[in-house]
Amino acid sequence: MQPQVEIRFTLNHRVVTAAVPPTMALLELVRDRFQLTGAKLGCGEGECGACALLMDGEPVLGCLTPAVDADGREVLTAEGLCGAKGLSPLQQAFVNEGAVQCGYCTPGMEIAAEAVLLEHPTPTVEEIRRGLEGNLCRCTGYVAIVEAVQAAAGGGR
Ligand code: FES
Ligand code: FES
Repeated sequence: MQPQVEIRFTLNHRVVTAAVPPTMALLELVRDRFQLTGAKLGCGEGECGACALLMDGEPVLGCLTPAVDADGREVLTAEGLCGAKGLSPLQQAFVNEGAVQCGYCTPGMEIAAEAVLLEHPTPTVEEIRRGLEGNLCRCTGYVAIVEAVQAAAGGGR
C-alpha cells in the first residue's frame, strides 16, 4: 500500500481533510472522494481543459495537479461556482446564451471563464479567447461561450 499524506484544504467553501497517496491527481480526489463529478477526465495529459479547477483563484488542470498540492489551499469546482440561490450569474449567462454545449466541456469552460473574470472584470473578446484557449471543444464552437462571458461581465457575476 502506498504511503498516505494527510491534507486539509477548502473545497467549495468548506474545510475538508483527506489522506491521499502522493501519486493521486487532484481530479481523482474531487471526483472519487468528494463526488464532485463536474470536472471530467478527458485527455488526462493537460491538453483539453475538461478537468479544470480553480486553486486560490487560478485555473489548474486537475489531471496533472497532484492532490497533495491542495494542502492549505482553496479549491473550487464548477459545483462551487453555484451560490445559495442556485446558478451563479456566469452560469446563468451560459444557459441564456446557449453556451452549455455538452456536459464534458462545460464545467471546465465555466472554470476557465470564472478565472478570466477574476483577472479581467470587464474582459475584451481577446482576453476571453486567450483565457479559454486551453479548453477544447471540437464539436460546436466558442461564439456562444464568449458571448456568455461578455454577458456575465456586463451584468456582474
Ligand atoms: S483531462 Fe486534464 S487537460 Fe484533459
Ligand atoms: S466538447 Fe462539449 S460541446 Fe464540444
